[in-house]
Amino acid sequence: MLYGAASAGPVLWKRPGVTMGKPRAPRIGWGADPRTTLTVSWATSLPVHNPVVDFGVDDSFGRVLPAETRTVPGWDVNYHRVTVEGLEPGRRYRYCIRHDGAAGPTQTVRTAPAVAEPFTFAAFGDQGNTAGAAQIMQVLAGATPAFTFCLGDLCYADPSGGVLPAGRVDHRAWDRWLRLVSQASASRAALLPAVGNHEIEAGMGDWGYDGFLTRIALPGNGLAGLPTTWSGRWGNVALVAVDANDVSAEITRNNDVSGGAQELWLARTLAGLRADPLVDWIVVGFHHCAYCTNTLHGSDAGVRRWVPLFDRFGVDLVINGHNHCYERTQPLRAGLPVAEVRSGGTWGSASGTTYLCAGGGGGQTFPMSTAPMSTVTVEGGARIPERAPWSAHRYNDHSLLLIHVDPPGSGGTTTLTVRAVSATGAEFDRVTLLRRRGLALPAEQPAA
Ligand SMILES: [Fe+2]
Ligand SMILES: [Fe+2]
Repeated sequence: MLYGAASAGPVLWKRPGVTMGKPRAPRIGWGADPRTTLTVSWATSLPVHNPVVDFGVDDSFGRVLPAETRTVPGWDVNYHRVTVEGLEPGRRYRYCIRHDGAAGPTQTVRTAPAVAEPFTFAAFGDQGNTAGAAQIMQVLAGATPAFTFCLGDLCYADPSGGVLPAGRVDHRAWDRWLRLVSQASASRAALLPAVGNHEIEAGMGDWGYDGFLTRIALPGNGLAGLPTTWSGRWGNVALVAVDANDVSAEITRNNDVSGGAQELWLARTLAGLRADPLVDWIVVGFHHCAYCTNTLHGSDAGVRRWVPLFDRFGVDLVINGHNHCYERTQPLRAGLPVAEVRSGGTWGSASGTTYLCAGGGGGQTFPMSTAPMSTVTVEGGARIPERAPWSAHRYNDHSLLLIHVDPPGSGGTTTLTVRAVSATGAEFDRVTLLRRRGLALPAEQPAA
């Protein structure tokens, strides 16, 4: 089947601007170390000859790197990727995707810096190809983030999400979404997804991940055999992506995908990052919410098994999706608030972990419960009501996180400011976290 044929008939390929073999939707990803290694991924409607990336410090490029090409069962689109190694940290490069007879526009990308620097990154989950998704990506594009952390449920090509009887994958949803994110930012700054339940797709291998992993190049430095786990660093911030399908109590289709090894990997990874003198901030992302008062999915006791690790290693932010809303918790230890941080406030992050739901990326929204109640799904699937004194701020519409980091100044304090913005770019929540190198700050109260 031709790309788009099912929705627009067999003449779609003649539409102006759409050429069957034209390379499209270029996207940057991180390699194992984004200071020196990046990936470039893109798509063509059909097989092409000699897909390559021209790569270099200017428009003379200098390196021609051949692509690896993959396909998914039942779909003609070819997905190409190149890993570019041996780069210099913090340097701008130019690249161009091409094959025999066609080329994409030249793009600029930058490697991760060797030292801490001010920067902004974006985070969202649960997007799809809706009008809301387009608005969110417009806001994201205007923020020019250094990278984007996606919290799963990327395009909903398989609506079953690992719950309903296996359905049919609408591959067009993937290709539309890849173009959307490429245009907004991913052609210039890395797109870094954690896996959601909707990346479990019918006919895509035992675990349903084959379509996702064919289209998205992940860093590949996580738990051996489980590429949905990875970590990476930009300046003094470390990101860790975890596969919540492994442990979810609500959606059990992929439980034990790691064979029980993911938790040990997570503990080792967090220990290593917290011991790294160049890492101040640790941000962990996974799909299912540890703490959320939304009525659709609520909280998942399965992922709360990792909370002791987040406490032990002083994880600063845990970012989730799955619930299509925004929610911020108070700083927590052992699931209980250790302070009250109102919108606009500051917090000494070494004393408590802030959990964020960033599932407002564009998918259909669902109501929040009446505060302060949550429903937590426990092992066996029962949904148990619980009080939610941890709920700090909630927003039940499309939204995006823009997170700005300033490196340690002369006093040794670094700040991480979480801004939650609406689909029009209006800020509706903000909290600033503080950390001092090698020294836990006392908890600070909200700013006046
Ligand atoms: Fe979702
Ligand atoms: Fe989900």
